[in-house]
Amino acid sequence: MDLVKRLEAYRERERNLKWEGTFAQYFEIVTHRPAVAQLSHERIYNMIMDAGTGATPQGDTHYNFFDGEIFGLDHPLQQIMEYFHSAAQRLEVRKRILLLMGPVGGGKSTIVALLKRGLEEYSRGDDGAIYAIRDCPMHEEPLHLIPHALREDVQSEFSLYIEGDLCPRCRWNVDNVYGGKIEEIPVHRIVLSEKSRTGIGTFTPSDPKSQDIAELVGGIDLSTIGEVGSESDPRAYRFDGELNIANRGLVEFIEILKADERFLYVLLTLSQEQNIKTGRFSMIYADEVVVSHTNESEYAAFVGNRKSEALQDRIILVKVPYNLRVSDEVRIYEKLLSQSALKNIHIAPHTLRIASIFAVLTRLEESKKQNINRMKKLKLYDGEDLEDFKSKDVRELQDEAEREGMDGISPRYIINRLSSALVKDNITCINAIDALRALRDGLDQHTGINREQREQYLDFISESRREYDEMVKKEVQRAFVYSYEESARTLLNNYLDNVEAYCNKTKVRDPITDEDMEPDERLMRSIEEQIGVSQNAAKAFREEILIRISSLARRGQTFDYNSHERLKEAIEKKLFSDLRDVVKITTSTRTPDAEQLKRINEVVNRLISSHGYCPVCANELLRYAGSLLSR
Ligand SMILES: Nc1ncnc2c1ncn2[C@@H]1O[C@H](COP(=O)(O)OP(=O)(O)O)[C@@H](O)[C@H]1O
Ligand SMILES: [Mg+2]
Ligand SMILES: [Zn+2]
Ligand SMILES: [Zn+2]
Repeated sequence: MDLVKRLEAYRERERNLKWEGTFAQYFEIVTHRPAVAQLSHERIYNMIMDAGTGATPQGDTHYNFFDGEIFGLDHPLQQIMEYFHSAAQRLEVRKRILLLMGPVGGGKSTIVALLKRGLEEYSRGDDGAIYAIRDCPMHEEPLHLIPHALREDVQSEFSLYIEGDLCPRCRWNVDNVYGGKIEEIPVHRIVLSEKSRTGIGTFTPSDPKSQDIAELVGGIDLSTIGEVGSESDPRAYRFDGELNIANRGLVEFIEILKADERFLYVLLTLSQEQNIKTGRFSMIYADEVVVSHTNESEYAAFVGNRKSEALQDRIILVKVPYNLRVSDEVRIYEKLLSQSALKNIHIAPHTLRIASIFAVLTRLEESKKQNINRMKKLKLYDGEDLEDFKSKDVRELQDEAEREGMDGISPRYIINRLSSALVKDNITCINAIDALRALRDGLDQHTGINREQREQYLDFISESRREYDEMVKKEVQRAFVYSYEESARTLLNNYLDNVEAYCNKTKVRDPITDEDMEPDERLMRSIEEQIGVSQNAAKAFREEILIRISSLARRGQTFDYNSHERLKEAIEKKLFSDLRDVVKITTSTRTPDAEQLKRINEVVNRLISSHGYCPVCANELLRYAGSLLSR
């Protein structure tokens, strides 16, 4: 990288962000690009939409804006976007506080953080460009300078929407500094930034009795009060509360329901009337999105409290449950691990998946349906096709559940346990068995669960372990079959010859004796049975294979080992059951002979080169498979 060039480009970008001019010049800009004056909800809505959308298999809209950061929360995100969509059109909901409610560690804070970081980015680009009156402590919209008497004409002639009034400081400046010459008042482009307290604020409740309301709405400026003499002079006031500085953007109100009532009433006025009541001044207009979060029990207490009715009315509640899709859970762990000190340790294949299976099991509700247990539900939710189940069943399961995802184990807990398994000396790799052990050991110290839950979680660990055992058998089988690839190919061709003869009602030529023979029913069945093709379905299955062969042939391609996924699986299974004893002996013997050693090395190399193993976990896998097979 050419650092000097990059620095120049960087400076150029920064210069572009530093526009300054008069209100008259700003008015030119805003009449050409009204979006620069869009209100806070609309800005956030457009920011998210500009990143693009797609659709989830469940029919929810997927918002690319959250890609790589939030996984498996499409449904809550869609609800959040419904709020922003209506609010962007200035419907009544924009006057409500967005409250995210869900279990600890479920991603609520992350969602809000993404909105904040997003706004910072967006305001640096062209589409999200935003301007403010230069000396305004609340960086307010310059259009507020237009006197009310003129607004109606301006709005209709330039199709602009103007809302809100000047803050006390700007009003004072207009009269006393600029002598009423509004057109000359300086305006500049701003960049929203939490660090520089521009358009993004955070309020964290502390001790409710001693916390000062000034943190929210600003307060008397003791250094200037002596000069200006009066408390009602706007120069004697600091408009630097979180609500003041978050004007134009977003304020995050951490754990809103823990805050003292005094704070909630300020919020109530802000959301209802878009005004902040500050010191001795009349209401100050503010335009900002208020987002907060809470957990379920606090929310229940809040709803049960009659005193809070007025505020309840001003809230849009979005439930943010834990993710319930195993593959998304794996992505969450990958994200968290990549941000941690563990990124140089090898994580054996299936490890995160098995930990995810455990985590999701703790979050699922038992279905009332007869033929479905938690593990099946987990697989259906994850998009696996199970026989006899359709996507319609997934929806029914979701509707049947009452508060699924609101309890269970959080992603952070899982990662903490994995980390503690990893900090042991000299560990270079961790596999699924290590992970399950770490999770099991952690249950003793987990304070959030009772005895009964603990027993249940131990069962879930065993269930996850059984899933792993199946995966291991399959994986080792594949790796062994690979080292018997030649045999696999022969078996496949043999099967295909027979299928062809069977479907065309012809004979098969025996390669050794050159005799014509009837198709070998036993051989065909022994393969088909491996994947559960019944006697009745055999004919259709063979015809399907034949059609595949001829349609490939038409395109000049030949049918091979990888042309038909299920047939491939059948061949592998057949071969494996023939090989079973070989594998058993090879993987469980302590003193392999030369031939066995060669085979093991081939399999280990295969696991390393194409299946993501390192030497440690590849050998571990074979040892484990050996013990499974010799049970
Ligand atoms: N669905 C999810 N997608 C991505 N990351 C998640 C998800 N759920 C939790 N996390 C991660 O877990 C950690 C805890 O989440 P956090 O946002 O602090 O939860 P909350 O505020 O709900 O307690 C964060 O690092 C977050 O990135
Ligand atoms: Mg949080
Ligand atoms: Zn102002
Ligand atoms: Zn490894």
